Amino acid sequence: MMSSKIIAANFKTNHTRRSSAEYIARLDSFMAENGVDTPVYIFPPFTALDSFDIKSGIKIGVQNAYPTVKGSFTGEIGLEQLDEFGIDTVLIGHSERRHILKESQEFISEKFTWFKERGFCIFYCIGEPLEVREAGDDAVRRYLVEQLDGIDTRYENLILAYEPVWAIGTGKTATPELIEKTHATIKALSDRPLLYGGSVKPANIGEILSVPGCDGALIGTASWEISSMVSMLEIVKS
Ligand code: 13P
Repeated sequence: MMSSKIIAANFKTNHTRRSSAEYIARLDSFMAENGVDTPVYIFPPFTALDSFDIKSGIKIGVQNAYPTVKGSFTGEIGLEQLDEFGIDTVLIGHSERRHILKESQEFISEKFTWFKERGFCIFYCIGEPLEVREAGDDAVRRYLVEQLDGIDTRYENLILAYEPVWAIGTGKTATPELIEKTHATIKALSDRPLLYGGSVKPANIGEILSVPGCDGALIGTASWEISSMVSMLEIVKS
């Protein structure tokens, strides 16, 4: 029984408003009917945010938000837009925002502190690119420590996610040994729950969640199909 594991689905730039609503309704029925009490978080795109009628324990979060109540920040959303739907969970520091959207550690930590001060549940992502992994364990540790710069690692509503960049969306999952080793490094820096992310799928989720020091999974690609998500939750439950 692994039901205390945290399972999170990051839709990224996938799903529409309609398909997100259908997905959430189907997942909610599955969880309610099968007594799935695993904490499940869904991060749909902004356009899909709504006041969902949820019977199970599903929590809806956002993939990003700007550290403001409202204002002139073209293309961003702030607290006023989140409050409308009762959203109090946010993903910060995802590698795609760090590398593609060029968010700096300084900005990421500012965002973290702003949402922390408002009591948000923060899913905070860290993870090294391939060249750092190839440089060895010390280089990885230094890189991860830098990604925690300015972050209150004892924050009670913090959930950490270790997502090695080279494993995201590549089908190249980190081995259980590597996850265990890296999680131990991160656990020495924070005692908050620590998820693994990077090509998690039905075929490997059982093994990954059995790794000592792995408190759950943050899933991209394999979470986008409801059937695949349900398969993973069945494995988590069994
Ligand atoms: P994949 O599961 O597609 O590798 O993505 C992981 C991820 O980035 C979740 O935030």
